[in-house]
Amino acid sequence: MDVKNTIISELYGGAVSGQQLADKLGISRSAVWKYIKALEKEGFRISAVPNVGYKLIGADPLSIGGVDKYAGGGWEISIKKETTSTNDEAKRLAADGVKCAAVLAERQTAGRGRLGRAFVSPYGSGLYISALIRPAISAADCGKVTAFTAVATAQAVEELCGMPVDIKWVNDLYMNGRKICGILTEGSVGMENGELDYVIIGIGVNVTRHAFPKELDGIASSVEVESGKKIDRCALAGGILKRLKGAEEALKDGAFIDEYRARSCVIGKTVIVNGDYEAKVKGIADDCSLRLERDGKEMSFAAGEITLKLK
Ligand code: BTN
Repeated sequence: MDVKNTIISELYGGAVSGQQLADKLGISRSAVWKYIKALEKEGFRISAVPNVGYKLIGADPLSIGGVDKYAGGGWEISIKKETTSTNDEAKRLAADGVKCAAVLAERQTAGRGRLGRAFVSPYGSGLYISALIRPAISAADCGKVTAFTAVATAQAVEELCGMPVDIKWVNDLYMNGRKICGILTEGSVGMENGELDYVIIGIGVNVTRHAFPKELDGIASSVEVESGKKIDRCALAGGILKRLKGAEEALKDGAFIDEYRARSCVIGKTVIVNGDYEAKVKGIADDCSLRLERDGKEMSFAAGEITLKLK
């Protein structure tokens, strides 16, 4: 990590004196002071407390040091001011042979969701992150990646704002009945061995966003609007990445599935399937597919879209 991000990471750990930072970095105290001033210009709010040192009192910009601190290390992290889609960035890293990485952006100009939809990603008001991982799992287990990520992200959001998060099969997170997050998982499977080569997990969380298009009135919202809590995006990103590190084991043992079921807001409900027919959700199977009942017959539903039927 570079000097700037090392300072950010230290500040996220609590108050730290100029001398401690200077010793850690092998630079002078006045050089530390210059870095602190530069960080303030970038939007970090840092106070200098006499006899204590520098203290982070607020951070708005995404930073590698901040995300890494909360993730507990283990990720190659990059942050873009602007990109088309963080999933595109992560795909390029996968093509270059990178094993494990996380790409974040302040803004996406062509953010995308499932089923070819756009994911509008205004500057600074959301968390737009893609994680590239290569868990040694078979293609048959790929369907669980989105569900596992939904649980990991729900836990990370809840930890920060204290509000319950529900999951709408398969990839949407809801707070107070409104969508606050979507997940788009893309990947590549080896045709010869049927094993997953890589998977890119794209997560978009509306963090501070207040304004949504009219057609999303009452449907979409953000974590801050629903919880009234200020959310540090570095803490959120790090909280998600920390949990994603356990992906391979979780996908193999399926231990997350009970929590996925417990968080489901569709079990027992009547839904519209692919905009076409009505069915009742009986449950979620161990492979994370839905068990639906249609015209008295039970069926499995593994890919597609359901919408909750409003009474
Ligand atoms: C959905 O709601 O259908 C899924 C939305 C996924 C959005 C995230 S934001 C980060 C990553 N980059 C993208 O272009 N999409 C995902």
